[in-house]
Order: sequence, then structure tokens, then C-alpha cells
Amino acid sequence: MSILTNKCIVLGVSGSIAAYKSPDIVRRLQDLGAEVRVILTQGGAKFITELSLQATSKNKVQNNLWDKEAELSMGHIELAKWADALLIAPASANTIANLAAGKACDLLSSVILASDCPTLIAPAMNQQMYTSNSVQDNLATLVQRGIQIIDPENGVQACGDIGEGRLAESDEIAKQVGLMFQSTKMSGKKVLITLGATIEAIDPVRYLSNHSSGKMGMALADACIEAGAQVTLILGDVSTSISKPSKQIFVTSAEQMYRSVMENINDQTIFIACAAVSDYSVKNPKNHKIKKSDKTLTIELVPTKDILKDVCQLPQKPICIGFAAETQNLLENANNKLKNKGCDAIILNDVSCTDLGFKSDENEVVFIDQKSSIKLAKNSKQKLGRKIIEIISEKFL
Ligand SMILES: Cc1cc2nc3c(=O)[nH]c(=O)nc-3n(C[C@H](O)[C@H](O)[C@H](O)COP(=O)(O)O)c2cc1C
Repeated sequence: MSILTNKCIVLGVSGSIAAYKSPDIVRRLQDLGAEVRVILTQGGAKFITELSLQATSKNKVQNNLWDKEAELSMGHIELAKWADALLIAPASANTIANLAAGKACDLLSSVILASDCPTLIAPAMNQQMYTSNSVQDNLATLVQRGIQIIDPENGVQACGDIGEGRLAESDEIAKQVGLMFQSTKMSGKKVLITLGATIEAIDPVRYLSNHSSGKMGMALADACIEAGAQVTLILGDVSTSISKPSKQIFVTSAEQMYRSVMENINDQTIFIACAAVSDYSVKNPKNHKIKKSDKTLTIELVPTKDILKDVCQLPQKPICIGFAAETQNLLENANNKLKNKGCDAIILNDVSCTDLGFKSDENEVVFIDQKSSIKLAKNSKQKLGRKIIEIISEKFL
């Protein structure tokens, strides 16, 4: 896994002569694993074509706030929500001034205003422009607002001047974006995550299971790895690619998952029970395939062991986070689960919506603990995973 794997980066390209380097910046971000979408300002389009940026980013380049088709679904808001980070490279003096003034005069400045994700800008301009009081004051304002500046380099400029203002190298820009995602919030912490669906055999060819894909658990694993944690995954049946580096243990039934959790729970800092574990298993699974007949077939089910509850009752229990996949009385059921299991927090998701939750790449959850409940609006599971891990770090570590 590279440092920008699964990261969505919006690259704003504005009207500096250095815009010709922007396809290379796209490439360097992709080398680190990012998916890139480009916003090209009118000024930027004087120096680089939309086609070059479309070909390198493999995404349609956005350049118009007044695009009727894109704005049908509020394109500028959608783009702001899609982004994990915003990068403007090169950032012209004009675009920097727009941001400092809080303008929403074009697509790029509107997306920046509509976004709450980290923003980096790489200024590029003539050395006299760069050292001017106006540009320096504007940059200072942006730094105060938490925007990160990727300093330009000193050297010979396109106009022949020598001084500070040359766009930083593409590699350096991509590296700075990557570094922003490196966190040490969970370094030295061990996290055990169960994910996916368990499978309970009826006979050698048939089984009871559920629709869990393991995607939410995998997104949480990615977020823990990014935050520096040592992750162990106990995987049931999953239909998603598996995060590395992590220790992976594959299991089938609820009983196997229970045993595996208990064998690995010692010295874990956090336990996240994200797997959809069957509440029942078949009492006497048959050794041979059950033959079809006209008679009613009754399968006797027995309750499985409660993994989360038993972990919560361990004398040296880790921080325990459970999931509640509910279809009705959502908050009531989730709060009951929090109390009955004795865990530190429950993440509630409504699995009655067909476009969210199970199998979907998106989710909408409520993080509930003894003191508060925090609603995390509909977003990709990757982004929700990061938000959940941030909340867990802040509340419990
Ligand atoms: C040939 C030429 C080169 C330019 N180079 C730069 C530059 O490197 N940096 C800069 O801030 N502005 C530069 N400008 C001015 C910007 O292109 C101009 O301010 C434009 O309005 C910026 O628009 P934007 O910020 O919306 O992209 C240059 C203009 C021209 C004509």
C-alpha cells in the first residue's frame, strides 16, 4: 500500500507559466497511489490543455462553475466532498488572492470554500511578485487558516529573473501531499478488527450467511494502518481487497471467529467488532448433501457465542467498539447494544437502505458512546473509516 492509496486528490491548476508541469504532478500523485481529478482555471487553460490533464488524470477535467450538467448534482459540492485533500499547483498570485479574500468567483475557489479537507498550495510566480507584500500577506492569511504552503524554489525563472518563485519539483509536491496523511495518532497501538460475514454450514454444499462484504472493516483497517497502528484482521467471507501490511487470519464460522479473537486479544489496545457474525449456527450440520424431497425440512438453529460481549468482560479488556446493523428502532437498539454488551462505543448503521451499508462503497453511521452520539453523513467507507478512527483516537487514546 502506497502513502496515497485510496486517497482522492483534487488538483487545482491555475494561471502560472509553470502549469505546463501539472501533468507531471498528476503522475507523481498517481505514483503514490492517489486518484486525481483536476480543476483548471481560465488562467491555467492558457498554459496547459484540458486534454493533457484529462489524459494523465484519466478523469474529466472540470473548468466551469456554470457547467449545467455537472451542477445538476451540485458538482462543486460533490467535488469538495469527494476530495481527501485539495492541492493547488501551481497557485497563481491571483488565485492566492482569491482564496485569501474568501472569494467564490470560479469553480476552484468555490470548491475550496465548500471543502473541510486539508488544503495545500504550491505558489509559482515571478520573484518580484512572490516577495511583494500583497502576496506574502495573502500567504500569511492562508497559513493562519491552516492551509499548507509548499514553498517555491530559488533559481532562474521563465522570465529570466533569478530568485524565489519557481514551482517546487513535482516529486516534492507529491511527497508533501503524502506526508499530510501520515499520522502517528495510533503508533505503537495494536488493533484487532473482525470483518466480513461468517458462514454456518447446513451440509457440505449449503450454508447460512449474510450480505456483509467486509468493506467497512477494511476501510477501518486502512485508517488504523495510516495512523501507525499494528493491525490484525480476522476475516470471514469478504469481497474486497485486503489491506497490507496487516496480520490476516481467515476463518469461516462464528465459532472459529470466536476462538480466533480469544487467541489474539491479549495485549490489543483496541478491538473493533465489524464482522457480521451469525447469531445462530446449525445444530447438527449434515455430513452429506441433503436430498430434495416433498417434505418440509426443519433446520434446528442454536445461538452462537457473543464475541463482543465476552471480549468486553475480559479482566484486561481492550477499548471495545461494536457495530450495530439495524433495520428498525435504530437508536434504541444501538443504545441497548452499547449497554448490554458493555462496550465503549457502538457504530450504528441502517442496513434497510439499499444504496448504503452492506456491499455498498458508501455508508452513513452514528458513533454512539456513553456521553454523546455523532452522526457521520453519507460518504465513502474509506472516508468514514478515517473519521471513525479519528474519533476513537480523540475519545479513548
Ligand atoms: C505569459 C504569462 C505568464 C504568467 N505567469 C504567471 C505566473 O507564473 N504566476 C502568476 O501568479 N501569474 C502569472 N501570470 C498572470 C496570471 O496568468 C493571471 O493573473 C491570471 O489572471 C491568473 O488566473 P487564475 O488565477 O484564475 O488562474 C502570467 C501571465 C502571462 C500572460
